[in-house]
Amino acid sequence: MKGIVLAGGKATRLRPLTKVTSKQLLPVYNKPMIFYPLETLVKAGIEEILIIVAPEHAGHFMHLLGSGKDFGAKFSYAIQEEPRGLADAFIVGEDFIGEESVAMILGDNIFDHDFTKQIKSFEKGGMVFAKEVEDPERFGVVDFDDKMSVLSIEEKPTKPKSNYAVVGLYVYDNQVIQLAKNLKPSARGEIEITDLNNVFLQMKELKVNIIEGVWEDAGTFEGLLSISNIMAEKAKQTVS
Ligand code: G1P
Repeated sequence: MKGIVLAGGKATRLRPLTKVTSKQLLPVYNKPMIFYPLETLVKAGIEEILIIVAPEHAGHFMHLLGSGKDFGAKFSYAIQEEPRGLADAFIVGEDFIGEESVAMILGDNIFDHDFTKQIKSFEKGGMVFAKEVEDPERFGVVDFDDKMSVLSIEEKPTKPKSNYAVVGLYVYDNQVIQLAKNLKPSARGEIEITDLNNVFLQMKELKVNIIEGVWEDAGTFEGLLSISNIMAEKAKQTVS
């Protein structure tokens, strides 16, 4: 399985921090943010990783991360000219994915969950992960029936039907390239990962796994501060 880290975008929510640099290069405690999602993929056994970046900061990412040798992986780079949405990663990454399946992680999503087992068990269709949160309206939200079968996934609903947020790691088989190309842009002009997940759901090929443990979307000031504090605390515990 191939891996993609999506680290494009303009991160206007984090201005002025992101005026001259990329969000995914900002520090999270003692490391640049992008180290965390890269380590999550490598820990899960994925060795060939495409890093998708915005044109302005491409050189910085290559300088920082290089060939991937230091991570025990092989990195390639691609430029996303415009932030066209999360599902665009599969169009930008088409040649890199080739005939394989792909795990895509958002460059600002930080986990301590080990995804090895779930990724190894992946067979076909789509597999996403959900976590119970207090502020589901910030995310894609999954609604389950009483047997935990998925009923719907909604993007940032004003009235969430559950507290389960879809986290930023998505695993798909090779159909994803064509399905992403068929998506129509949403009201905010982007091709949405939630629409893609709903296509897999309609095809009855979407599996949702619940995860626990640390997860943060570091794309807001609160998220960035909170995950930095969590990582600092974890580091202290490892030392003592
Ligand atoms: C994106 C997705 C959303 C998902 C979230 C996870 O939101 O659109 O479905 O729950 O990532 O971090 P964004 O952070 O781009 O607003």
